[in-house]
Amino acid sequence: MSRVSIIGAGYVGLVTGVCLAEKGHDVVCVESDAAKLAAIREGRAPFHEADLPELLKKHIGHRFTATASVDEAVAATDLTLIAVGTPFDGKTIDLSFVLQACDEISRAIARLGRYHVIVVKSTVVPGTTAGAVQERLEQVTGKKAGLDFGLGANPEFLTEGTAIKDFMHPDRIVIGGIDERTLDALSALYTGFVGVPVIRTNPSTAEMIKYASNSLLAAMISFSNEIADLCTVVGGIDALDVMRGVHASTYLTVTNGNGARAQAPIASFLEAGCGFGGSCLPKDVSALVAHGNARGLDMGLLREVMTINRRRPGRVVDALTRGLGALRGKRVAVLGLAFKPDTDDVRESPAFPIIRALLEDGAQVSAYDPVANEPAQRALSGVAVSYARNMKDAVEGADAVVVVTRWKEFETLPDVVAKMDPPPLVFDGRRMLDRAAFARYDGIGL
Ligand code: UGA
Repeated sequence: MSRVSIIGAGYVGLVTGVCLAEKGHDVVCVESDAAKLAAIREGRAPFHEADLPELLKKHIGHRFTATASVDEAVAATDLTLIAVGTPFDGKTIDLSFVLQACDEISRAIARLGRYHVIVVKSTVVPGTTAGAVQERLEQVTGKKAGLDFGLGANPEFLTEGTAIKDFMHPDRIVIGGIDERTLDALSALYTGFVGVPVIRTNPSTAEMIKYASNSLLAAMISFSNEIADLCTVVGGIDALDVMRGVHASTYLTVTNGNGARAQAPIASFLEAGCGFGGSCLPKDVSALVAHGNARGLDMGLLREVMTINRRRPGRVVDALTRGLGALRGKRVAVLGLAFKPDTDDVRESPAFPIIRALLEDGAQVSAYDPVANEPAQRALSGVAVSYARNMKDAVEGADAVVVVTRWKEFETLPDVVAKMDPPPLVFDGRRMLDRAAFARYDGIGL
């Protein structure tokens, strides 16, 4: 059992905290936002994530406590995970929250006068922990990393919507430490994960593993989207059939012990669509490109991965224009505002640039998402969109319906559209619907 504090009860910090408590550790979480702190203390999850409310209720006040004081948290524990935000301004990762956490931890450990391990869990570009973070900690504490305190990096591999499950059943555990003592303290946190590969390395490598992993996923998505666009311009090829053929290779479809063939999970990133969004993929790829550039390396491939992604909204609008003619005055229903299904997170949602492009062309936009209408409305404040309470209201009277997010609920779109006269053009931005179910259908890669 370890005693661990976590700075930041955001998405990563809170999920990590309750899961470590579930694994038997004593966890103190530090949150500076008073409303969030109050919610957590009452056992209420401040955001939508499966299984989080149950785990929080189970452990709050017992193995999991929350405070506003870094001092108190550090004094009660032996290891501190930094899980604060690292916003990206287009050029560099903003380290101000990380460094602010470093300052507070430094003051606490200077007062404490005993060995403590500090670990960066926030996503930071390779070299940050052993560079800027170490420098700051040594400067403020007046102590030496590796001697008076331990220092490491421990990136997370959580997917929104399944974050608790991902934490409790990880595919890998990556721990980076500047020395063996740090690595041992970090591995003690993860002893409860039997059979999971643990990659013990230095902090910069750990940081790079995180970026390389997300960049690979993004590259696969943009690859699929480029192939799909080529299918569209060549004509007579359906990208869905092409990808079915690609997926069937034994690299992507594996034969299990019973001889049954099953698609490898990675194949789910080889599906054409209207682009990747969220708080991780776009930001991580852009930050890595900028990081390379700052060191004189042109990251041509990943740069293009982003360019292809930025063109996705244009592809949707082009297809609608092909089907409807000029969009001025046309009514378009956008289904799906969350950046992916099963979350209310709208950060970098592909729906937003699509909506903006439609409005720019003079279309009237109605929008609907099963859970993300309100966050979308806040993010798009001042943008002329009407939000519908359900799918039926959103598509009523529409000339075109665009499916942007792969929500299960949208599978019932054929029933809703069947009653409409004249039938709208349905543009399937995720290729999730049966084209034969619609009078007028188009989609990515057709
Ligand atoms: C991603 C990674 O999948 C996680 O492994 C990683 O830990 C996490 O980032 C992180 O850095 O914390 P997440 O952003 O939650 O997780 O969501 P994904 O499921 O990866 O989806 C990202 C975006 O790609 C979504 O907009 C999704 O719609 C899109 N996508 C996905 C496609 O456009 N096409 C695909 O074939 C697959």
